[in-house]
Amino acid sequence: MKLIAPNLYSMGVQHTSAVVQLHLNSFQGFFLSFLGPSFLTIYYAALCKASEGIAIVYCNDNGIPAGFVVGSSNPRGFYSRLLKREWLRFAIASVGAMVRKPNIIVRLARAVSHPGNNPVGEDVAGLFSVGVQPDFQGCGIGKQLISAFLEEAAKRGCRRVFLTTDRDNNDAVNIFYQRCGFAIERQYETPEGRRMNEYWISINDEMNKV
Ligand SMILES: CC(C)(COP(=O)(O)OP(=O)(O)OC[C@H]1O[C@@H](n2cnc3c(N)ncnc32)[C@H](O)[C@@H]1OP(=O)(O)O)[C@@H](O)C(=O)NCCC(=O)NCCS
Repeated sequence: MKLIAPNLYSMGVQHTSAVVQLHLNSFQGFFLSFLGPSFLTIYYAALCKASEGIAIVYCNDNGIPAGFVVGSSNPRGFYSRLLKREWLRFAIASVGAMVRKPNIIVRLARAVSHPGNNPVGEDVAGLFSVGVQPDFQGCGIGKQLISAFLEEAAKRGCRRVFLTTDRDNNDAVNIFYQRCGFAIERQYETPEGRRMNEYWISINDEMNKV
């Protein structure tokens, strides 16, 4: 477990069960949460191990994760590569969700077979999610996690970082990303009808301002 800054560590497999709990609390009603804790455990463990994965936790003074941020360098096709690498474990872990909602098979199959629409480029990193435990929110931890993520992406040669988030009923998160220096460059609608904001930040110009 590598210390990045006070209380900030590169995420290791030992953090995954706490991070899964944080994820389930932070992202209720989202697709990955619907797939359930077993799927998320494999997902976060795989993300920690993947060479392109960028995964950082904020641990409280007792060493328990109270926040996390994850993403990857070379984000085009990242999910597809991750799912293919551990397809059997992911398939077994998603059986319960498939029984509850059979049409998720289509979405999972698409994720495996299609590289997705993430931006292309070796100098690009994607920030997939950030979450802070509710009683630790508003203390600057989210911003510290973003700053650490940008530093790690810069170390890997990335010059720009993108993320997407819902445009509607999501003001707090949109303000948070803007406060962290991200700016909206594109708006679009997903096949499921969600209106999204796509944010970007140029690391070398903006990192010191965060
Ligand atoms: C979004 C989230 C990560 C922010 O973490 P946090 O630790 O509370 O944020 P910080 O305390 O570091 O705040 C950083 C900046 O964002 C602003 N901000 C944070 N939450 C805000 C809110 N609810 N409303 C308005 N501004 C907010 C802060 O005022 C601060 O601005 P400043 O630097 O100008 O003072 C956290 O609220 C969270 O986990 N939410 C649930 C999960 C989620 O929706 N994640 C994002 C989608 S992937």
